[in-house]
Amino acid sequence: LEFSPETYKKFEETVARYPRKEAAMLPVLYLAQGEFGHLGPEAIEYVAKLMGQAPARVHGVVSFYSMYNMKPIGRHHIQVCRTLPCALRGAEKVTTILKHKLAIEPGQTTADGRFTLSEVECLASCGTAPMMQVNDDYYENLTEEKLTEILDSLK
Ligand code: FES
Repeated sequence: LEFSPETYKKFEETVARYPRKEAAMLPVLYLAQGEFGHLGPEAIEYVAKLMGQAPARVHGVVSFYSMYNMKPIGRHHIQVCRTLPCALRGAEKVTTILKHKLAIEPGQTTADGRFTLSEVECLASCGTAPMMQVNDDYYENLTEEKLTEILDSLK
């Protein structure tokens, strides 16, 4: 397991922007996730070696942030915000609808590999609650009708 030449070049450029290599850990992990799909034990070992850190330290960072995936995920990673403002505006109902429509629980992936469902903490879009993130896109002011449209549009 290693970066492609293009990703390795991005790695070097990223590290060069920081005073200490260690400070580039988050963007480097993001690059690694883009390259490998998820950050399993092998990817963590590889990043640790590149960064000159202990694998346990890299594992600690990866497991702390919800933007990193330690297991393979579906093509569309649905992350429903469940923090108080979204909770007050119906986040639980959003999750219930998604669980029903996708026939999976949070933390699971549909059998066809199309969707992974997660519950996460505040995504800084509280004014448009309830909301969710799918891959890099935000979907806000969610209703049951909107959820149906969104799922239909994500092939
Ligand atoms: Fe949901 Fe902040 S509480 S985006």
